[in-house]
Amino acid sequence: MSGEQLHIVGARPNFMKAAPVVAAAREQGIPTQLVHTGQHYDQAMSHIFFEQLGMPEPDLNLGVGSGSHAKQTADLMVAIEKTLLSCNPSCVVVYGDINSTLAAALVASKLHIPVAHVEAGLRSFDRTMPEEVNRIVTDSLSDLLFVTSPEGLVNLGTEGAAAFKVHFVGNPMIDTLKRFVSVLEPGQIRSELGLSSEYGVVTVHRPSNVDDPAAAERIVEILRQVSDRIRLVVPLHPRGRGTLTDAGIMDLPGVLVIDPLGYLEFMALVSQASVVMTDSGGIQEETTVLGIPCITLRDNTERPITVSHGTNVLVGNNPQVAIPAAWAAIQKKVDPQEPPLWDGHAGERIASVLLQISI
Ligand code: UD1
Repeated sequence: MSGEQLHIVGARPNFMKAAPVVAAAREQGIPTQLVHTGQHYDQAMSHIFFEQLGMPEPDLNLGVGSGSHAKQTADLMVAIEKTLLSCNPSCVVVYGDINSTLAAALVASKLHIPVAHVEAGLRSFDRTMPEEVNRIVTDSLSDLLFVTSPEGLVNLGTEGAAAFKVHFVGNPMIDTLKRFVSVLEPGQIRSELGLSSEYGVVTVHRPSNVDDPAAAERIVEILRQVSDRIRLVVPLHPRGRGTLTDAGIMDLPGVLVIDPLGYLEFMALVSQASVVMTDSGGIQEETTVLGIPCITLRDNTERPITVSHGTNVLVGNNPQVAIPAAWAAIQKKVDPQEPPLWDGHAGERIASVLLQISI
């Protein structure tokens, strides 16, 4: 073994989770390499996050890119296998629930390289979500399970994960938010977008909301009705651009559709929003910490702590249900409670465990 630990990231939500872990690992003297699979590759979906989060340039970019689930996962596996065979790391650290996470866990495990999974144990119990399949497989193959939220401990226990593998460490995505929250510049992004009064922020990119034209039409109908009462800004993920445009999102007078934003601009925009409507997992967590009402356009969540402790309400994507539920939620004052260990120090806790196995 080379003794180096390889952190593998691939898509937008991975970067905010990996930044504090990689920084803490390097600070604690663990030999660490960063590999980007290239699952996300646009400047706005990838590079800008490295710049803004002060992350080191990846030691290697595998340039895998997009494709169907089978093709993308297969391409990721081939590229990652080549990398692991040449680097021979002592451990592979994977993040979240994307296809890069699954591919890296599968390849490392078959090469008998220990796998550490950051954000283990989350379950939506909805196997129609590709991420749920990725979570289950990754956790079952991992040797170290870093858990962000107490429900993760319960889920892993129910599935029979050995207790010695499981470490409750808190949430590294929230480390990143806490690190940057005091330097956000909401005034600047609001003035660039011409937002002088109340507004909401919307993100949608889940296959269940944007791949099927009928679902995209339901989302656009929800936005049409909500935007009659409050201006909405939609930084649009490339996945939904086609179907949502066909469904008429660009023609809604109260909706401002913009390109994806960098981390700092996006969090600045969210920090002064009256409401956020989303199908993202990470944004459910970030709005909980910021105390911004969050309306989740899904029927389930793998992050129920954002409902029990935070500002999150699940409304699905049926306009007849979602719109009244969204209004009720917006009007209800919520006083969020900080989930345990979402204290800005998860990266250090993870690195301390990784240090023990690097000795
Ligand atoms: C992926 C993750 C999802 C995560 C999301 C965050 C999986 C299964 N899904 O979904 O869990 O919430 O990232 O954004 O891994 N595209 C671009 N530029 C890019 C990247 C993608 O235009 O830089 C377009 C391509 O048309 C691509 C599509 O977006 O086919 C989907 O990208 P992909 O990485 O397959 O999945 P996401 O929907 O982004």
